[in-house]
Amino acid sequence: MEIDVLCAVPGLLEGPFSHSILERASKRNLLHVQVIDLREYGLGKHHQIDDYQYGGGAGMVMMVEPLYNAITELQSDRAYDEIIFMTPDGLPFTQAKANQLSLKGQILIICGHYKGIDERIREHLVTLELSIGDYVLSGGELAAAVVIDAVGRLIPGVLNDETSALFDSFQDGILAPPVYTRPAEFKGWKVPDILMTGNEAAIDAWREEQAEKRTRERRPDLLRD
Ligand code: ADE
Repeated sequence: MEIDVLCAVPGLLEGPFSHSILERASKRNLLHVQVIDLREYGLGKHHQIDDYQYGGGAGMVMMVEPLYNAITELQSDRAYDEIIFMTPDGLPFTQAKANQLSLKGQILIICGHYKGIDERIREHLVTLELSIGDYVLSGGELAAAVVIDAVGRLIPGVLNDETSALFDSFQDGILAPPVYTRPAEFKGWKVPDILMTGNEAAIDAWREEQAEKRTRERRPDLLRD
């Protein structure tokens, strides 16, 4: 899978993809992330990418031209399955969305800054708008990193134990049960006896019950259909 990220602050994305699971994904040639600096497409000698908004008001807007030039140049090389704009007024990014995106071949993610991007790019070029939550970040880069992490780990072959993603919180619509590892007792804090019994059916039932309890207590909205 190829993910291109078009952004104004590429430095923010220097770290996230060169460690741990995403590093492995790239070494296995399962995921390739390319970060493109929008400023390279900026106008004039100052490589301008933002300007005052029509109608007045505080805050700069990312200009249509540099974005258009960058996107169309990238498109001459790749046929994107999806052109995503990260924005707090986008559709909520969920595990279901991550699953859908993990099946795509080529994706472009555009990160906004300042007041946002010129609406004409959203109208004419963007195919999907995503929000990672009801709060405003200073730019879309960190939101894009969140999406790439969640999607990247779902690409077949990225996780060593293929089944482990299946038991993630949200993968079947509810939260994951608690987990424990050695030692069996620490400062008097004990691991639940059931997990030591070796009785797989009983352990599965306990985990299911714990997952449901946790979801009812913390996220009852997930249980409402
Ligand atoms: N850009 C700024 N805030 C954002 C958010 N919550 N989700 C996605 N992109 C954003």
